[in-house]
Amino acid sequence: MTTQHAFPAERTAVLTGAASARGIGRATADRLAGEGWSIAILDINAEDAQAAAAEIGANRAVKAIGVGADVSDEASVDRAITEIEQALPPIVGLVNLAGISSPTPFMETTVAEWDKVFAINMRGTFVVSQRVLKGMIDRELGRIVSISSISAQRGGGTYSKVAYSASKAGILGFTRALAREVGEHNITVNAIAPGPIDTDIMGGTLTEERKAQMSEGIMMGRVGTREEVAALIAFLLSADAGYITAATYDINGGLQVS
Ligand SMILES: NC(=O)c1ccc[n+]([C@@H]2O[C@H](COP(=O)([O-])OP(=O)(O)OC[C@H]3O[C@@H](n4cnc5c(N)ncnc54)[C@H](O)[C@@H]3O)[C@@H](O)[C@H]2O)c1
Repeated sequence: MTTQHAFPAERTAVLTGAASARGIGRATADRLAGEGWSIAILDINAEDAQAAAAEIGANRAVKAIGVGADVSDEASVDRAITEIEQALPPIVGLVNLAGISSPTPFMETTVAEWDKVFAINMRGTFVVSQRVLKGMIDRELGRIVSISSISAQRGGGTYSKVAYSASKAGILGFTRALAREVGEHNITVNAIAPGPIDTDIMGGTLTEERKAQMSEGIMMGRVGTREEVAALIAFLLSADAGYITAATYDINGGLQVS
């Protein structure tokens, strides 16, 4: 039988792909900082990661660092997590957000594009989770949330096509199987599957016209906000969510009824 461990007052959340100014990760980092987490932003864009961390650290009066790393590269991730472990309190939370879209129709998708999408969206989630889990297992405490997509459930239908859908479906199996292996260490592993969210990942900032088009078929009649997704992730990272694992949370305004 496992025993529950209290959350330490000083604890760090690592967020991959949280550097972009209008992204879900950035909003989530801000939300978690407001809840007292120290923040580590790991992003391919080192400059933006550092700027985002500096701003969040100053606004929220928490410790925050931004580190440049490519999630698909094991050595790069190892360096970044080592730096984070040395600079900040113990890592309790990991949010795997780093991802790229892929609007290419299947028959035009090259092996190179397929591999790139999987390297970032899927291998990156594996590499970062495995590296961060070493410390979580030692401390017998952890929360991991990875970002899948409604595209995995519905087979695209929003912007990206087969490669993206397949990579995001991989996140669901990854989450459930990993949850099974690490539950005994008091570590939860969950996925969220957002519908269309107002960020820049779908080929740039959404115009009002595009948002209106995307809203058709969404029960709530609009696309989601990054703050709404941030709130869900923050809950799944919280001490209160200790009995939720291997779950996929829909957040799509009713676009998918599953
Ligand atoms: N916006 C949506 O509608 C939506 C819906 C479902 C799922 N998602 C997922 O949510 C996550 C966040 O997306 P977003 O909408 O905030 O987009 P975004 O483009 O703002 O954020 C993606 C981030 O990932 C970073 N990144 C890209 N490649 C990387 C790499 N190799 N290593 C490290 N970082 C890398 C980018 O620099 C960027 O900061 C993605 O995984 C995306 O697939 C988004």
